[in-house]
Amino acid sequence: MTIGPEGCLDRVGHDVAGWVWLPAEPARRLRVEILFDDPPTRIGVLADRHRPDLEGAGKGDGRHGFAVPLPDALIGREPAVDVRLPDFPGARLRGTPRRAILTLGFVTLRAIRPVGTDPERLCGFLAGMVRLNGGCADTAVPGVADLRSWLAGGADRCWLIAERGGRIVGHCRIGPGWPAQANTGALTLGIELHPDVRGFGLGRQLMLAAHRWAAGRCARLELAALPHNAHALALYRGLGYVDLGPAALPETGEIHRRMAIGLAAPRGPAWDAGRAIILVG
Ligand SMILES: CC(C)(COP(=O)(O)OP(=O)(O)OC[C@H]1O[C@@H](n2cnc3c(N)ncnc32)[C@H](O)[C@@H]1OP(=O)(O)O)[C@@H](O)C(=O)NCCC(=O)NCCS
Repeated sequence: MTIGPEGCLDRVGHDVAGWVWLPAEPARRLRVEILFDDPPTRIGVLADRHRPDLEGAGKGDGRHGFAVPLPDALIGREPAVDVRLPDFPGARLRGTPRRAILTLGFVTLRAIRPVGTDPERLCGFLAGMVRLNGGCADTAVPGVADLRSWLAGGADRCWLIAERGGRIVGHCRIGPGWPAQANTGALTLGIELHPDVRGFGLGRQLMLAAHRWAAGRCARLELAALPHNAHALALYRGLGYVDLGPAALPETGEIHRRMAIGLAAPRGPAWDAGRAIILVG
């Protein structure tokens, strides 16, 4: 079996950066075309930049990175960005397509409503995230009925969404489940943002909204992070989470860092998460 190119679009902002290589021919440098949709613009580049992280990960000699500045004419237009390989027309890079967002602007945070279109929209968002990560959305994403029944399962759960321009760009789920153990006063938190909106401080704000919902509803929040997820670990440590040591994901045995934060009950009533918090980033 021939193994095709492997790569990823890592960053889309003031520059567009990623990597791609052909494992069967590690010395080959691949040609890359970066496509913008507004106005249609095409930039060709060779993926030959040295990246220590790629070398460290065993991707040949690591000279497989590419980066081009966002053309001046596109700044502020938020164009969609896609990457094509002229020598492998059918190949798609992980993390494509993306949107070049340079300023976050207005974002609202609120709990999803079990009635109406929120569950369908959230499932659509989750499926899109799995596809961006190169996974199969059919098996990895809960169905709308599962999501509705999870929401109806009790007062110990909440699913927050972040919306920008009417589009869901992130979510944070709080409820029972691994790594928190039942009847310990702890709930578990999981968070994920669309790559277009990472690095603007939104993850931190969504976590703080989750804490606000959870304060008074549980004594402690727990989460599990992969040890190499430096960005997430920095966020959690910065918020005051402490490391409880390694924990194996029950389904796969994959080792995570289990972390926790204690929450004091609020002086006033707990936050009614159905009412949106509006952020300006
Ligand atoms: C992890 C995640 C939620 C963070 O959200 P975010 O909006 O990108 O993060 P923020 O911009 O709020 O940054 C929070 C902290 O992360 C750290 N950070 C930010 N960018 C970083 C980067 N590129 N590398 C390492 N750490 C970084 C900083 O410590 C920052 O704190 P500071 O603002 O005080 O400097 C988001 O990146 C994401 O969804 N990642 C993919 C999914 C994931 O990993 N989920 C967590 C699974 S456990």
